[in-house]
Amino acid sequence: MFSLKSVVKRSKAAGLALIVLLVVRALGWSQETARPPIDEEIAKQDKIYGSRGAEVPEGYVTNRRLSDYAALLPTGFCDALGSLRSADQWLDVGAGDGQAILDYYAPADEATPIEKCARLAGRARAVALSIEDRRTDKWQQQAASLGSDRLRYLFGKRLREYSSEELGKFQIITDVYGGFSYTEDLSQFVEKVLSLVETGGVFFTLLQSVLLEDGKDKPNIYYQTELVDTAGQDVKVCSWLKKTSCVQVGCESKTDWTPTEVINIRKVCSDISVPRMKLVEFEAGYPPSRRFQLEQ
Ligand SMILES: C[S@@+](CC[C@H](N)C(=O)[O-])C[C@H]1O[C@@H](n2cnc3c(N)ncnc32)[C@H](O)[C@@H]1O
Repeated sequence: MFSLKSVVKRSKAAGLALIVLLVVRALGWSQETARPPIDEEIAKQDKIYGSRGAEVPEGYVTNRRLSDYAALLPTGFCDALGSLRSADQWLDVGAGDGQAILDYYAPADEATPIEKCARLAGRARAVALSIEDRRTDKWQQQAASLGSDRLRYLFGKRLREYSSEELGKFQIITDVYGGFSYTEDLSQFVEKVLSLVETGGVFFTLLQSVLLEDGKDKPNIYYQTELVDTAGQDVKVCSWLKKTSCVQVGCESKTDWTPTEVINIRKVCSDISVPRMKLVEFEAGYPPSRRFQLEQ
């Protein structure tokens, strides 16, 4: 039983709490509004893309080699690249300097052993795609000597802004810390990539700091890309991708320095549909931190 005195005390405390809450809300101090708006963060992200010389943040790596791609991407990547014929096409989305493609086309004596994995057949035409122009002198020289039919470097817009006619179709699409790790619209990005893959072709990519398919990531760690369902419950990136129609998804969960899902998606028919996710949080970075929620 409560005494009259304690009831008065409690209602005074409750009243005070309500006033504090209303003041906090009015001043916009709720946790939700304390975060910078998504638009501001996207503008910060654009500055990272636009950075040059000493301004390029140390962690924004744009010059990974083909051997790095071979080490980071799923096991079948090298064999798939090696099996391409000269009329086939390879697209690297988020290519940075395009160094991996330069290695692919490098004269045989310059190749390190791992790079030779791609030399089993005729070299395919290759397209490097980047938001910003990071072509090096080496790229310009190699592209000039091979001709634009073999090597293309496209920049100035995001993948979603290209039409299929501009890009063509690809047997292999790769993405190493490119659009898949940076996009603000994950579903649209995956759908666009898969629309550009030939039936039978493969998209090779990875995503770091995510909830792993094999459940072996440590509890309470920081996730850079978070996916949740309509009720706010965690969704694993691979479980989400496996709901896409017309694809076979393979995932290798790695826990080297951060939980990373290494992903290959084979297109098996043309009617691709990716379950929609909307962006609910975004914080600029390299890569940015993102939270997506499944739409109804
Ligand atoms: C960190 S760099 C990675 C470069 C390269 N893959 C490497 O590993 O060295 C990120 C690249 O992704 C590109 N990028 C990010 N989002 C993209 C998008 N939606 N469409 C095309 N390129 C994108 C950036 O412009 C940049 O070239």
